[in-house]
Amino acid sequence: MIIAIDGPAASGKGTLARRLAEAFHLAYLDTGSLYRATGVAALRAGGDPAAEADAVKAAKTLDLTQFSPADLRTEAAGVAASQVAFIPAVRAALLDFQRNFALNPPGGAVGAVLDGRDIGTVVCPNATVKFFIEADLETRVIRRVKELREKGENIIESRVRADMEARDARDKDRSVAPLKPADDAFILDTSKMNADEVFATAKAHVERHI
Ligand code: CDP
Repeated sequence: MIIAIDGPAASGKGTLARRLAEAFHLAYLDTGSLYRATGVAALRAGGDPAAEADAVKAAKTLDLTQFSPADLRTEAAGVAASQVAFIPAVRAALLDFQRNFALNPPGGAVGAVLDGRDIGTVVCPNATVKFFIEADLETRVIRRVKELREKGENIIESRVRADMEARDARDKDRSVAPLKPADDAFILDTSKMNADEVFATAKAHVERHI
């Protein structure tokens, strides 16, 4: 069983993915962390995440053990991630790892949940169930500001909003694997839902498909 979850920044994909993985005993891959790690690796090497040569080199030599969750969840890492993600050769370099995770989930799990931007459209077009999780910009800004402040990051709300708008635009407008719902995705607008409501709705949808 493969569950594909796509959607824009801070729409609630990660929280839902983690809960579905637990409920159905599936392995979980946050594919955004691969792009974040690639962006941070390019910065650490003194390169520019938006420059193809620097970004591709970082993707091809990626060693995930070099990054703590705190290294990857900063707003700067999110911006660098969306810059490397814009480059088709970076996406190609990260594709095999994602498909292999979905088809051969670690730890003997019976399947996998992957979340990202192009899971239902490109990485796992044959996923058992596909979700596209949305929320309006203001809701997503409030969620992200809360997440970053809880982690102790000193951030300015207007900056988070501007970064998120720029990131959404880059993710939607790129030529390869743009952010968009798969034709057969279940679209869930979470603007007025809490995490429990999102989980209950999604779980019922999965149960109808297995
Ligand atoms: O947590 P948040 O939704 O803010 O971001 P993320 O899922 O960690 O992804 C960070 C960035 O990586 C996104 O803005 C996308 O540009 C890129 N990404 C992608 O292009 N394709 C994926 N499957 C996952 C992430």
